[in-house]
Parts: sequence; C-alpha cells; structure tokens
Amino acid sequence: MICDNISVNSKGHLTFAGFDTVELAEKYGTPLYLMDENKIREHVRTYKNAMAEYLPEGSIPEFASKAFSCKQIYRIMAEEGIDIDTVSCGEIFTAVQADFPMEGCFFHGNNKTDADIRFAMENKVGFFVADNGEELLAINKIAGELGIKQNVLLRVTPGIDPHTHKKISTGSVESKFGVAIETGQAKELTEKLLRLENINLKGFHCHIGSQIFESEPFITASKIMLEFIADIKASFGFVSEILNLGGGFGVRYTEADPVINYAEKIREVADALNKLCGELNLTCPKIHMEPGRSLVADAGMTLYTVGSVKEIKGYKNYVSIDGGMADNPRYTLYESPYTVITASKADQKADFVATVAGRCCESGDLIQEDVALAKPDRGDILAVLTTGAYNYSMASNYNRIARPPVVMLKDGADYIAVKRETLADVCGLDI
Ligand code: LLP
Repeated sequence: MICDNISVNSKGHLTFAGFDTVELAEKYGTPLYLMDENKIREHVRTYKNAMAEYLPEGSIPEFASKAFSCKQIYRIMAEEGIDIDTVSCGEIFTAVQADFPMEGCFFHGNNKTDADIRFAMENKVGFFVADNGEELLAINKIAGELGIKQNVLLRVTPGIDPHTHKKISTGSVESKFGVAIETGQAKELTEKLLRLENINLKGFHCHIGSQIFESEPFITASKIMLEFIADIKASFGFVSEILNLGGGFGVRYTEADPVINYAEKIREVADALNKLCGELNLTCPKIHMEPGRSLVADAGMTLYTVGSVKEIKGYKNYVSIDGGMADNPRYTLYESPYTVITASKADQKADFVATVAGRCCESGDLIQEDVALAKPDRGDILAVLTTGAYNYSMASNYNRIARPPVVMLKDGADYIAVKRETLADVCGLDI
C-alpha cells in the first residue's frame, strides 16, 4: 500500500488507521472524508524535529492551512507547537475560533484588502507576508491607525521553476506572487520598506511550487535568497532574522510517486544553507518552511458509495459515485493522479478498468480515468486515497451538493471534526 496507515482486514475490507472503512461508511454515510490524526502529528513532528536538529535555533514549520482548514486542525497544530500560514480572513477567523496563539500566524496573499489587513491586525496576526508595494503602504497606514508596529516578511520571487504543474508553480519571475529579485524590484522595495515607520521587517519569504520530491530546487532557492539577503545587508545594513522557504515537498498519490524522507531532505537543505552562509559570511537566519500537503495529504481518505457501473461495450467503463468534483476538484482542475480501491472488495483482484465519475452534471466531473478496480456493484464502497490536502478545503456546493463531514481517527477512536452539511445549510443564506 502507498502509506503504512492502509491495510486489508480478514473480511477483505480496506482499513485506514486501523479502522474498517466499510464500517465507517455505514456509521457516518458517504461521501465521507477521513483524517488520521496520528499520521498528521507524525508528519508535524518529523518536520519540527528535523528543523530543530539541523537548522538554527528558532527554525520552525508553519502548516500551510489552505491544504486543510477547520478548527480542529488549528488545535492540533497549537498542541504540536508549530506555526500556521493563513491566506484569508476565513482561515484567520477559524484559527482564532480554535484559540490558536495568533503570534504564530503568518498572513499571506497577493491581494490583501484594507479590510483584510485591519481584520488580521485586530486579531493579532503575528506576521504579514507582504506581496507588493501597495500592500506595504496599506499595512503601514493601518498599523499606524491602530498604534502598532507590524512584523512583516517580504515575499520575493527567486525566479526558478521547479517543473511541477503550471498551476501550482509559483516561484518564477512572471508569477503573480511576490516581487522579483531578478528585475531589481525586490531590492528597491526593501529600501522603501525599511523607511516605513509602522513596519518591522523580519526577513524574506519565497515559495517555489508544490509536489517537489527533491531538495535541489530548495537548495537553488536558498542560494538565490541568501545572496539577496547578503546584498540587502551590504547595501542597507539590514540583517534578515527569518528566511522562509515556503512549502512544496511532495506526497505519494500513487505508487509511481517516489517515497520521500522529509527529515533527510530537510537535512540536505540545511547542509547547503550552512555551507552557503559560510561562503557569504552570513549568520544563518532562522529558517521557516510551510508544508501543506506533506503534513495532511496521506492522513486523508475519501469514501464513496458506488451507484451505477456502466459498461459501454467496446469503449469505456464508468463507475459512478455519490461524490465527485464538488468534494474533490483536483482531477478536474489538474488531472491529479489518485489511487482508487474498492474498499468493500479490497482482497479481490483489481482487473476492471474504469473511469470513476462524479455525480455533478458535467462530463469533466471525474475523479480518475481508466483505473483498475475490483469490479464494484451498486452499494460497494470506493476509497480514494491521499485526499487529506486540498480536498475538503477546495470543496464547493456546485449543483447545490452538501459538503461531506470530516471524521478524525485517533488511537482507535473516531470523532467528527466537521459535521455533514445539511440541505438547510446549503440554502441557509438565501433570502
Ligand atoms: N506556502 C505558500 C506560500 C503556498 O502558496 C503554498 C501552496 C504552500 C506554502 C503549501 O504548498 P504544499 O506544501 O501544500 O505543496 N490547490 C493545489 C495546490 C495549490 C498550492 C498553492 N500554494 C493542489 O490541489 O494541488
């Protein structure tokens, strides 16, 4: 199996975090998001411990909560003692509701409105990751009105392309995020920003992309960022306290993806950082990283019930499920690969090749094309693996479909973290 929290029991049912998935589907109904809390905590500790061991004191991961946001995940991150990355008032509000210590909250986004900025400051967000000049002026003005000095990191683009999917690659010069080093604009803006009296510049941020399995793109980014930091120090005497390298380490969606040892990759990046700092005669800043999917993706699984099994003779087979792009839009958006298993027949041969189709009124509503499954019948349970990141957080009410619940599994106990939406919820805001 692609992850060690998945197995098959004596009934031939798929198990997840030690639970019989068919029993969970019966208990909670489908579609159903499952999250393995121990797996989340295991990943968080791997990052936290490796960063503490190999990087300067104060180096810490931030959970990129766009990957999975609900109150319970912020409580887990608070208990584990790591920081969070948020990108909207909605994520900030959720974290506040969960009593997350907001000094460990970083506020991202390429277009924060004045209202967003004020809301974040009023909620005591620790750091803004500023994207552009207009935003910096607005932060300075609003901080002045509120009588505070706001900690800020400046997001810069290191100008590298880690060769992932175009829509999830963000570090190149022409990206909509950040300000480019290559064009000289990042340096110019830093000079201006150092004169803004209500801003406390703490360092720089970059994010190169997602689903990266090698340390090499992070090392290249580190080199560019440290050279920039050295240039800023030489030019303006500013010493960068923090360097945030963003998120992006990959996860195994299918057997074709490599197995990745995060601690080992962090050590490789740390070795390179230490060497580069020596060469540039810099004290290594505190390093922050922003893992999203690598903390939660393989801690998640989605269960569906099979409806029709359609064999179009000589053409194609379809297995239709009671969910789809409304709860997982990733195949529709990015043609993302997934592992799909007939959970109620997990001990049977996977020799029926079919396209798993959702129930939205849209032919692109597919979860996966031409995958080999144990042939299901109506009523069988289908499991889609590695759905803990960017599934619940990207779910919609398209076709007025109610969102599934999130059930957490921990040490043999199951509990609801997010309730199933009702039809009343779906039209709850309608007048
Ligand atoms: N930090 C920043 C500034 C980011 O923009 C992102 C992701 C992350 C951290 C976390 O990246 P991760 O470790 O999760 O790869 N919806 C897409 C992913 C968009 C990612 C956007 N930014 C997907 O479903 O694959």
